[in-house]
Amino acid sequence: MAEKGSCVYSLARNRRSIREYSRDPISISDVLYAVSAALEAPSGANKQPWRFIIIVDSETKKELRRVCEEWERRFHQGRGLPKWFREWLRERGITWEKRFLTDAPVLLAVAANKKAPYARESTWLAIGYLLLALEERGLASLTYTPANPRAAARVLGIPDDYTLEALIPVGKPRGVKEKEPRLGLAETVYLNKWGSPLPGREPGMTKAT
Ligand SMILES: Cc1cc2nc3c(=O)[nH]c(=O)nc-3n(C[C@H](O)[C@H](O)[C@H](O)COP(=O)(O)O)c2cc1C
Repeated sequence: MAEKGSCVYSLARNRRSIREYSRDPISISDVLYAVSAALEAPSGANKQPWRFIIIVDSETKKELRRVCEEWERRFHQGRGLPKWFREWLRERGITWEKRFLTDAPVLLAVAANKKAPYARESTWLAIGYLLLALEERGLASLTYTPANPRAAARVLGIPDDYTLEALIPVGKPRGVKEKEPRLGLAETVYLNKWGSPLPGREPGMTKAT
């Protein structure tokens, strides 16, 4: 059982994806602290395939929002979206509109070098470190994955041998947001073989609270 008081666990437990931001400024040194933590992540052959762009310029943010929303409209109107996913988005009020791209005081673009081994796995691992470090500094975030990352990458001048993995708004949340439920140990962890439960833990015993 995870130690509820331990630092990493409580940061992970408290952290949630925030989609509504106040325009209050934040300290860039806190952002650099979080990026520094991300730079300590392991990576395939230690190639450190990640690159970060700290975006504070309002015109760049506006242009990113314009390009992203254009593709989000197509994505949200597309017939290919599974029914459950359409419902999941609706319940959370997630639409094609991406106000956080202009409201959040800082956007972090994270790119991965396609030529590096395990570039995406490594970059997302670094993003995980980043999110917890932001949480530690009291900063909210969201791993927004644009519907057309290439179009957003062009706005930022990201070269073709890099993929834009995420645009992460960073700032202070507007309002309070509930934590999304999580599965517990009993639903997700087996002992020795697939399907073999941990002793004393039947599915349903550890409810996400
Ligand atoms: C790889 C990845 C991609 C995601 N892409 C988006 C996205 O494009 N837009 C969005 O609003 N949330 C996105 N999310 C956030 C998830 O919806 C969110 O983490 C999940 O619903 C759990 O909520 P929580 O982070 O508040 O606990 C993404 C998360 C991950 C890990």
